[in-house]
Amino acid sequence: MRILITGVSGMLGSSMAVELSKAHQVFGTGNSEMDLPINYCIFDLSKGSYKELIDWSKPELIIHCAALTHGNYCQKNPMEALNVNGYSVSKLLEATDEKVKLIYVSTDAVFSSGIHLAKESDCVFPENVYGKSKELGEFFILNSYRNCLIIRTTIVGMNMYRDKSGFVEWIMNSSQNNEEITLFDDVLFTPISIWDFMEEIKFLITLESFSSKILHISGNEVCTKYEFGMLLLEEFSLNVKKVKKGSINIFTDRAKRSNDQTLDCTFYQEKYNRKLPSLRKTIKTMKKVYNNEKRD
Ligand SMILES: NC(=O)c1ccc[n+]([C@@H]2O[C@H](COP(=O)([O-])OP(=O)(O)OC[C@H]3O[C@@H](n4cnc5c(N)ncnc54)[C@H](OP(=O)(O)O)[C@@H]3O)[C@@H](O)[C@H]2O)c1
Repeated sequence: MRILITGVSGMLGSSMAVELSKAHQVFGTGNSEMDLPINYCIFDLSKGSYKELIDWSKPELIIHCAALTHGNYCQKNPMEALNVNGYSVSKLLEATDEKVKLIYVSTDAVFSSGIHLAKESDCVFPENVYGKSKELGEFFILNSYRNCLIIRTTIVGMNMYRDKSGFVEWIMNSSQNNEEITLFDDVLFTPISIWDFMEEIKFLITLESFSSKILHISGNEVCTKYEFGMLLLEEFSLNVKKVKKGSINIFTDRAKRSNDQTLDCTFYQEKYNRKLPSLRKTIKTMKKVYNNEKRD
């Protein structure tokens, strides 16, 4: 299958492009230079027309992973966030014909505080610009007759590019550098590794059509960010002594974020008879990939 993946210079997109290219013809796009063994072009999704991108990739399926993911940046640049994270969906649909399928990777951030283990049927009410911009992307899919799917998730993983760093790298690097960090023990989430998440994508793209417009695909177990960080460091035999427990409430100058980011994935698992990973499996998968890639 010809697959266009957006955001392949990012954490999820890069690993997905490499994995899917083992069985498919993958075309990837990002907004900066990168070096992956796939067809790649730089394409700024804030452009008005996507014709050039679609003419180049001629996809049968688009997996839309690109987004401005930094909450504070989105808060300060709302129009850019809405354009890249939200209107991009509308532009991808407009630029392609109805035979082209679309998977939109969305987030738990479309929900507000106070919802525990959010279901697909729960009302969205994002609390920050990032969440609103992803809700906008979802809006275009929900209002389309096309064969497209929203996947809400809470991914964790490691970047292929060493100059990029996310939550997991921050925890591990801080420990290796003997730096003190604070992890929230009042923020709940249901993490899934990007590699376990990709297994579900590989399953979903075998389906002829998407019979549900929204699926929650995340880890099967609730934990705090603190618990996650401690388990991660223990699995990698790294020092946990410098990890402090803290509250999200101490950060008053950051974009507001719900302290319950948990997703209920029962619907997806029952509908497709899939088993999503436990917390321990999520951490073990990361260790396995890390060892296989022989990172420093
Ligand atoms: N990471 C999480 O915690 C998390 C949780 C839930 C859902 N998600 C969703 O999962 C998806 C992947 O997240 P991620 O963590 O892999 O993100 P990421 O590492 O921040 O990567 C984002 C990607 O989007 C691209 N991008 C940003 N602005 C662009 C623009 N104007 N034009 C074209 N490309 C642009 C980036 O390109 P450059 O780097 O080249 O600029 C990069 O390739 C996102 O849709 C996100 O909303 C993430």
